[in-house]
Amino acid sequence: MVNVGLMGLGVVGTGVAATLLRETAPLSDVTGRPVRLKKVLVRDFSRPRDIDLPSGLLTTNAEDILADPDIHILVEVIGGTDPAEGYLRQGLSAGKHVVTANKEVMAKSGPELLALARKNGVNLLFEASVGAGIPIVGCLMNELAANDIRSIRSIINGTTNYILTRMAHQGTSFEQALGEAQELGYAEADPTNDIEGIDAAYKLTILASLAYRRPFQPSDVYCEGISKLEPQDFRYAQELGYAIKSLAIANLVDGAVQLRVYPALVPAEHMLAKVDGVYNAVEVDGSLCGQVLFHGMGAGREPTTSAVVGDVIEAARKMGGHSPPLEVRNGADLTVRPIGDLKVRYYIRLDVADHPGVLARIAQILGDGEISIAAVLQKDTQPETESAEIVITTHSAREASVRKALKAMAGLSQVRRVCNTLRIEE
Ligand SMILES: NC(=O)c1ccc[n+]([C@@H]2O[C@H](COP(=O)([O-])OP(=O)(O)OC[C@H]3O[C@@H](n4cnc5c(N)ncnc54)[C@H](OP(=O)(O)O)[C@@H]3O)[C@@H](O)[C@H]2O)c1
Repeated sequence: MVNVGLMGLGVVGTGVAATLLRETAPLSDVTGRPVRLKKVLVRDFSRPRDIDLPSGLLTTNAEDILADPDIHILVEVIGGTDPAEGYLRQGLSAGKHVVTANKEVMAKSGPELLALARKNGVNLLFEASVGAGIPIVGCLMNELAANDIRSIRSIINGTTNYILTRMAHQGTSFEQALGEAQELGYAEADPTNDIEGIDAAYKLTILASLAYRRPFQPSDVYCEGISKLEPQDFRYAQELGYAIKSLAIANLVDGAVQLRVYPALVPAEHMLAKVDGVYNAVEVDGSLCGQVLFHGMGAGREPTTSAVVGDVIEAARKMGGHSPPLEVRNGADLTVRPIGDLKVRYYIRLDVADHPGVLARIAQILGDGEISIAAVLQKDTQPETESAEIVITTHSAREASVRKALKAMAGLSQVRRVCNTLRIEE
């Protein structure tokens, strides 16, 4: 008999509890032994629940799980760092296998927790922490482990992708699209973590640590949110043959890893450009497998339950074995490349005075920075304000040079506003 202690009975916990209670026969078939939900930790007994649990299962005392030697697998779906991380540490130290959906804890303390799991001879599994129902964590650890990973390019925040899809297809403003996402329950009341790219940075930290076998921290990820995007950016991007997507990218350049989350122009025919709404996708480019694309539901009760219960099955099957450490061999000496070293193409949108010679001044500044122009579009001339919108795309250039040029452009009396600068990810 394998006994499970579940911590958290919210969106995900309810799905996990329902599956463990309902699917007892199939679970014992696939694991080779009966799996039983023994205790469920909540914060508030009186909260109405979407599930009827057998009596005696609920508790508000974490020790009922942590101190019970008869609970073999601890499933943490509380979220946040405190008290969740402490519970994970206690569970591992007590020799329990641990399954968690917690991206924040895994991004910040994953390597330490995996070392603790190893020390105690147990497994720490975290498939649901990235992409919910998309099986990317296990694939990077196992099925793709023979590859040198050249890059990971991903859309791993459903809230952001929903907002960008609305802005692209309906021409809505950012504020309007965010309001709709909140009404539909896709965005939280405080959406900062999603729209500023922090949630995606946690998930990218986990993916990159697995892919490059070296522990990264969320602070290694350069991060830009989507709140500055305006409807014009989507119109011009479409005219130029691109979609705008918030991408989380890890790639290896000359022995250093570059980690970044930002809204970028993606060619309209690329598969990532077609990932719409709350869907997620992860494209892995490996030395042996080539380009592989994972696509699916990156959030929600059922997809996340799929990943969590999958990990419970794996933990039950592996009882007696333990997780490998995160930092192994080749990854240890990989450094993080600063964002200033990034070399990509750029999209620059400027609001300028509609006077002769403006373009020549801008071209001069770009030329001084050795940034060559690929195309210039002059848009939306407004005679009453004598202003015009200019969109410039560049050939591949260094980020540091582009930033310097943008500063110089902003200082020109004819430039009223540098509206937006986006990278183009071909
Ligand atoms: N929701 C998704 O689609 C999704 C997808 C992928 C990963 N995840 C991850 O899964 C985890 C859970 O997310 P969720 O959406 O299920 O969260 P949620 O709906 O807010 O549920 C959290 C649960 O934890 C319990 N809890 C909170 N603080 C507690 C404390 N101090 N002691 C004991 N119990 C406590 C709550 O108890 P009460 O019920 O009594 O308030 C609630 O049952 C998070 O790490 C999240 O990032 C979620």
